[in-house]
Amino acid sequence: MGGRWAAAVAVVALLVAAAGPAVGKKEKEKMCDKGWECRGPSVYCCNATIMDLFQVYQFENLFPNRNAPVAHAVGLWDYQAFITAAALFEPLGFGTTGGKQMQMKEIAAFFGHVGSKTSCGYGVATGGPLAWGLCYNREMSPSQDYCAENSDYPCSPGVLYYGRGALPVYWNYNYGVIGEGIKADLLNHPEYLEQNATLAFQAAIWRWMTPMKKKQPSAHDVFVGNWKPTKNDTLSKRVPGFGATMNVLYGDLVCGQGYIDSMNNIISHYQFYLDLMGVGRQYSGDNLDCAEQLAFNPSGKDATSSS
Ligand SMILES: *[C@@H]1O[C@H](CO)[C@@H](O)[C@H](O)[C@H]1NC(C)=O
Ligand SMILES: *[C@@H]1O[C@H](CO)[C@@H](O)[C@H](O)[C@H]1NC(C)=O
Ligand SMILES: *[C@@H]1O[C@H](CO)[C@@H](O)[C@H](O)[C@H]1NC(C)=O
Repeated sequence: MGGRWAAAVAVVALLVAAAGPAVGKKEKEKMCDKGWECRGPSVYCCNATIMDLFQVYQFENLFPNRNAPVAHAVGLWDYQAFITAAALFEPLGFGTTGGKQMQMKEIAAFFGHVGSKTSCGYGVATGGPLAWGLCYNREMSPSQDYCAENSDYPCSPGVLYYGRGALPVYWNYNYGVIGEGIKADLLNHPEYLEQNATLAFQAAIWRWMTPMKKKQPSAHDVFVGNWKPTKNDTLSKRVPGFGATMNVLYGDLVCGQGYIDSMNNIISHYQFYLDLMGVGRQYSGDNLDCAEQLAFNPSGKDATSSS
């Protein structure tokens, strides 16, 4: 008797299991909520959070000289600001996609850009040129006001739109778009990005997570493997990997020009951080550079470009 019941139950269980995948095309994924750092429901919040994997001592290792007397933004940048900003994007997959190794790699890749763009490290600097990320919070000697005619985002009188932030933003229209993205009035107050590290990191992560145009991938997408190149992409030599993140963020200012210093410098920061975070540069991934890639958006005034 008991045996029969057990067999019947087993059959039912099998039928349910077989019916499962047929119900929806995709299996229903588990959703999670981890409170302020990863507010769900989101599949990404089921994974480790950034704080689980990347702790304050690691941030200090990456940016040991940011408060040195010769640095230009002493006291501004800190771990808490990064984590507070990142929390808004963790439910969307920032630093929470894939397993532990991919998560660490994305943090290293994001900071590779930030470190390179905010570095004041030169050949002879203490600790080597790669140890000086987050030294700046703004462009020091702007050569122009970066104000262009734009009906959506007209320049505010007397306001200058030179480069500011963790992934420096230039031009009124970029301050306008990014300000809308992070719900801060950056068009009238671009100075927020040099005064408030949380907002500066929010702007930078928003840039990382957001495609420049519809139907294009974000830097996040090309890095974590969310992106399938189209035929045109393949013809233009655009392939998934770290190299394509530079293409998304800077276009032909950095890509498609061979092995130029500005490209090599970003790659060097990424690999230095992979080493420091204990992942190791041997896991940098394929397609590290964009030396031969045509820009997603040719000769653009991309948000993080200065010209
Ligand atoms: C969460 O992490 C696991 C491995 O630990 C990975 O297979 C999975 O894809 C991750 N989830 C998401 C949504 O990326
Ligand atoms: C920075 O901006 C955030 C978001 O608007 C705000 O909550 C925070 O108080 C600001 N921090 C400082 C130091 O002004
Ligand atoms: C294909 O790529 C080129 C160069 O990147 C671009 O100018 C063109 O608009 C793209 N065409 C399509 C159909 O996306």
